[in-house]
Amino acid sequence: MQAVRGMHDILPGEISLWRRLEAELRRVLDGHGYQEIRLPLVERTELFARSIGEITDIVEKEMYTFEDRNGDSLTLRPEGTAGCVRAALEHGLIHNRIQRLWYSGPMFRHERPQKGRYRQFYQTGAEAFGLAAPEVDAELIIMGAELWRRLGIAPLVRLEINTLGSPEARAAYREVLVEYLRDHYDRLDEDSRRRLDLNPLRVLDSKNPDMQPLIEAAPRLLDHLDEESRDHFARLETLLQGAGVAYHFNPCLVRGLDYYNRTVFEWVTDALGAQGTICAGGRYDGLVAQLGGRPTPACGFAVGMERVVALMEQVGVSGGDEAPHAFAVAAGDEAMRAALLLGMRLRRELPSLRLVNAPGGSLKSQFKKADRSGARWALVLGEDELEHGEVTVKDLRGKAGQVRLPQKQLSQWLGHRLASEREDMQ
Ligand code: HAM
Repeated sequence: MQAVRGMHDILPGEISLWRRLEAELRRVLDGHGYQEIRLPLVERTELFARSIGEITDIVEKEMYTFEDRNGDSLTLRPEGTAGCVRAALEHGLIHNRIQRLWYSGPMFRHERPQKGRYRQFYQTGAEAFGLAAPEVDAELIIMGAELWRRLGIAPLVRLEINTLGSPEARAAYREVLVEYLRDHYDRLDEDSRRRLDLNPLRVLDSKNPDMQPLIEAAPRLLDHLDEESRDHFARLETLLQGAGVAYHFNPCLVRGLDYYNRTVFEWVTDALGAQGTICAGGRYDGLVAQLGGRPTPACGFAVGMERVVALMEQVGVSGGDEAPHAFAVAAGDEAMRAALLLGMRLRRELPSLRLVNAPGGSLKSQFKKADRSGARWALVLGEDELEHGEVTVKDLRGKAGQVRLPQKQLSQWLGHRLASEREDMQ
């Protein structure tokens, strides 16, 4: 049996980078006052159709939609923003107050699998509600910059930003754009012809190379922006400059979800091939009202976890050390039993201790396993040690050789060493 196409396992050998990324993310999110929310993997299909937009790749062709036994149409979430807004409304989390939330977990899109593109992939998203000023757009962008810096991948990542203006400005621009596209109807591909009436801005997002000259010559949204959006964007630019965050203004950045207005941004790398966007987001001031709430400004982003991990791997970022600290080696049934009890006591006294008990077998094979595990110390319980209530601690990595201690002193001895190792790391 094999995994479903596009759905991948994350194996123990890869986990240390995932954990490192998750830990840094959590610190950055905590550091900015974002609170975690855990959301269902499944929502009503209608939620995604109404928020992401009917005429988007995601809703048109990428959702895992099914009927449950009641005949309700449900969908595996393709992204987290819609569910987060739904939950925030349902539980009154954003009623007349500022709320900063984050979530993490798998998302599902039936896209064509390739390197960096999966049908089940992980996102960590942050959403800020109730803040209309560009400071929060800047805050979210600065959080990304800080995360890349802490992970050591900042030199490989660049920021692209654009503004989509207000819905009114976009509606006015839409008319200008439709007129332009109609004038060049014969040069439109099939997808774009269909989008012309339904969602013409998405024509600008076409990846078809034949369409590019037409897109480049199209009228620009920037020239049709409303005054307030123009001002919002200018203030955001000033904030980013003041924070020392380099960016590239990309007027063709439109994003594949319909809920955005004003600021949109993507963090991009050239080091991963075609799937180079590692994090993306923007402002969506209309979505809360669209889903039945009071008008509430909102802004957020989502990190594509697989892509960031791939980048960390490429740069040679090291994950946290997952190897056991100690490996208990015990010869014979009685010693094995003693090792089990000793291990139980040690873990209770040193909750962060990673200790593995040997599975039995000859001392030689146990030492081999201890060595292969990457453990720092072997805790040896031989006949003689048992008789005297002692344990031999053998240094498997350094040159410290071995010491023999009363078993009662072992947790103190290990505790000192774990504490000094932790200090070294900080
Ligand atoms: P999105 O651009 O669709 O935005 O996805 C965000 C990130 O998820 C992408 O930049 C990419 O890194 C990752 N991603 C998307 N699809 C895949 C895939 N098939 N395989 C691997 N990684 C993928 C959103 O989802 C919005 N909800 C972001 C947002 C939050 N906007 C405001 N708040």
